[in-house]
Amino acid sequence: MLLNASGCLDALTAPEVARGLDAFVTKTVTPLPRDGNTPVRIAETDVGMLNSIGLANPGIDRFLTLNLPQLEKLGVPLWVSVGGFETDDYADICLRLDDHAEVSAIELNVSCPNVEAPVESVTQIVAAARLATRKPLWAKLSPAVPDIAEVARAAQAAGADGLSLVNTIKGLKLDSETLRPSLGPGQGGLSGPALKPIALAAVATCYRATGLPIVGMGGVQTGLDALELIAAGARHVALGTILFADPDAPARVRAELYAAAVERGWESDEDAYAIAHRDALSIGTTLAERQIHRA
Ligand SMILES: Cc1cc2nc3c(=O)[nH]c(=O)nc-3n(C[C@H](O)[C@H](O)[C@H](O)COP(=O)(O)O)c2cc1C
Repeated sequence: MLLNASGCLDALTAPEVARGLDAFVTKTVTPLPRDGNTPVRIAETDVGMLNSIGLANPGIDRFLTLNLPQLEKLGVPLWVSVGGFETDDYADICLRLDDHAEVSAIELNVSCPNVEAPVESVTQIVAAARLATRKPLWAKLSPAVPDIAEVARAAQAAGADGLSLVNTIKGLKLDSETLRPSLGPGQGGLSGPALKPIALAAVATCYRATGLPIVGMGGVQTGLDALELIAAGARHVALGTILFADPDAPARVRAELYAAAVERGWESDEDAYAIAHRDALSIGTTLAERQIHRA
């Protein structure tokens, strides 16, 4: 399944892009409306993009009355990304989403890199959300933790149905003339190509640690990038920063992904699932056998 990464696509201004996905993931919704951080909020770097949007969103009340009915008209399954500052924030929003049949899944944005005790806070948030809703819960984790396997196991034990990996990682860009931060708030979240090896490591680690279904994301630009995440253990792939540069990415990445799988003698990308965890000899044999079988 191909999704967008939360915060990287406005489905209401680009509905045709959202319709090219298997599910649309909303920008993170918080209890109260948030204007976000002071501008400048986006800066390009050599290896990706820095953002300090600061969870700008309409808040859950307006989201439910204004945004959700419009998003439903897209005809695409909807995942709502939920954020907060305390455990109760997450539980309250999950409770309010629970009766909305048009919401297929909830992604818990538990990725704040400043959280001091990620295992404890993820356990509390996921457990509280689990009590509040029957909907599938995906815990979106930060790669910027000492041991992501421990955090992933904590999310699983607290009732997460899947993991979304990874969120951005803190970065700083300085203006080359003034040598002052380019972004208004100073630092921001780094996304794009620099995240790909980090995402691959997180997906591989959490696949081994939990066996949970994973949405892999981080620096996906091509179908081969997506195939690598699937090989590392992702069931699904999300497109983030690439959508700003290439709105046609969903169709292109889908076609490239299929072609990359076929080139390797597979029927679909599903044959690549978690193959990075199998030894190279058995993979080589499997590929050769399939090619002989097909010839
Ligand atoms: C402009 C921007 C806004 C984002 N907003 C959110 C958000 O609201 N919630 C969230 O969980 N992740 C957010 N993210 C992180 C992405 O969902 C994704 O995890 C990250 O960008 C890595 O994927 P990519 O390298 O393909 O962009 C945002 C990323 C960007 C670039």
